Amino acid sequence: MPKQRWTSRLGVILAVAGSAVGLGNFLRFPGIAADNGGGAFMIPYFVSFFLLGLPLMWIEWTIGRFGGGFGHSTAPGVFHTMWQKNRFVKYFGVIGIFGPVVIFSYYTYIESWLLGYSVFALTGKYAGCGDSGAMAEFLRGYQGLTHNEHFSGLGTAYLFFMMTFAINVIVVGFGISRGIERFCKWALPLLLVIAAVLVVRVLTLGAPDPALPENNVANGLGFLWNPDWQALREPHVWLAAAGQIFFTLSVGFGVILTYASYLRRNDDVALSGLTAAATNEMTEVVLGGSLVIPAAFAFVGAAGIETIARQGIFDIGFITMPLVLGKMAYGQVFGFLWFFLLFVAGVTSSISLAQPAIAFLEDEFNLSRREAALLFAVITFLLCQPVIFFYGNGVLGEMDFWGTTVCLVVFATVEVILFAWVFGIDRAWTELHAGSDIRIPSIYRFIIKYITPLMLLTILASWIWTDWRRHLFLEDIPPGDKPIILLTRVGLAGLFIFLLLMVRIVWRRRSAAAAQEIDP
Ligand code: ALA
Repeated sequence: MPKQRWTSRLGVILAVAGSAVGLGNFLRFPGIAADNGGGAFMIPYFVSFFLLGLPLMWIEWTIGRFGGGFGHSTAPGVFHTMWQKNRFVKYFGVIGIFGPVVIFSYYTYIESWLLGYSVFALTGKYAGCGDSGAMAEFLRGYQGLTHNEHFSGLGTAYLFFMMTFAINVIVVGFGISRGIERFCKWALPLLLVIAAVLVVRVLTLGAPDPALPENNVANGLGFLWNPDWQALREPHVWLAAAGQIFFTLSVGFGVILTYASYLRRNDDVALSGLTAAATNEMTEVVLGGSLVIPAAFAFVGAAGIETIARQGIFDIGFITMPLVLGKMAYGQVFGFLWFFLLFVAGVTSSISLAQPAIAFLEDEFNLSRREAALLFAVITFLLCQPVIFFYGNGVLGEMDFWGTTVCLVVFATVEVILFAWVFGIDRAWTELHAGSDIRIPSIYRFIIKYITPLMLLTILASWIWTDWRRHLFLEDIPPGDKPIILLTRVGLAGLFIFLLLMVRIVWRRRSAAAAQEIDP
């Protein structure tokens, strides 16, 4: 049996919602939505939520609780219990540990920028940067890409990284109930309150420049919400929307499955999964959608927003938002609230990314929680170094590509096929409703069996069709960076093979022990 348990239903819902609510809600969502034309994006986004995100949320809660009943908190064991006759399925489960480890290794670094920027906002360090160019230069200096009057190297960024990394390791080191649950129980309400304060401030901005009255908050909301039916014909908008749904809900990572393994057999998963998904969507669409886009729109207009989003997904958050907030009364305080909100949201997500690897070490190698957290810390600390020191060469982007684009979709496809076709939809549906507080509309039986797998296979196929060559053969990478990116790939492949070997060792040991029991 897993050695740990959640102490309350609210606790587990907040932890799962905390895993979901993260940088994706406040940074990635507005950036992707703006980059894909605002209103054009929202229809594919909601379709993806109902047909991919929500079903996968239920699947992960259900299979996690199921596997937890057999003492497994991570995907290799969970997949094995679902298809015991198959010798290979457990190896697919490795993606559910590898992906989160890879994402954790760069996610915490970006999270640490937010801690840094919260301090800079309060101390007025970037207050002298009056336009986007100056703000971008500030960011580049912080990232160690240039030397300028603000920073002369990576020292400051490294200090904030160490603090962020330590916070993460300490929280997970305390375990499920005393660490993750306790942290999320105050962090999630706190971040919702901060987001609500910022939303009220932004929505009362009106039109800040009297000379440009069309640049106002209402038009900013219209930019996001006026549907553009033409865009439904654009495959890239659908891919972007589906990718955002995966990322924001934390489905296809393997982390919700791990969290759900600490439930009891008859704990509800149907209503809890729905509540966690709804909390995330409310935070993303209502709060996230009412912050960055309307605020930036009021200052730079539609064309400005699209240009910024195209320059880089984070530019809108790190460059535009501090400028916009800085123009308001109490700008330093609002700047601090913005970055601190993102930082707290980031931590509630990154601790969930850490848990699968830690749980694997605890469950399958009988390490104590502290030992597992320490070993995890050593490995991911090493992985973070190339992300930090070769950021300018594209290492972070490469890790994001394998961790997010590839792993999430492949893992989700394996999960849904296992659940609906191998485990069998009848059994799966019964399992999903065991101890449940609601009955899920039976249309979802059909969706989970046919639509979700079909959509996932289509996404995989269209991605392979349009993109794989470009990525695999490093077509977009400058020649000087290619050796570093190749080395990153070799390192990631090494980690993946190492995890495969660990799974093999565990199962060999287990069958040897079982054989000895039968024939002592
Ligand atoms: N779901 C997390 C986020 O949105 C990973 O940031």
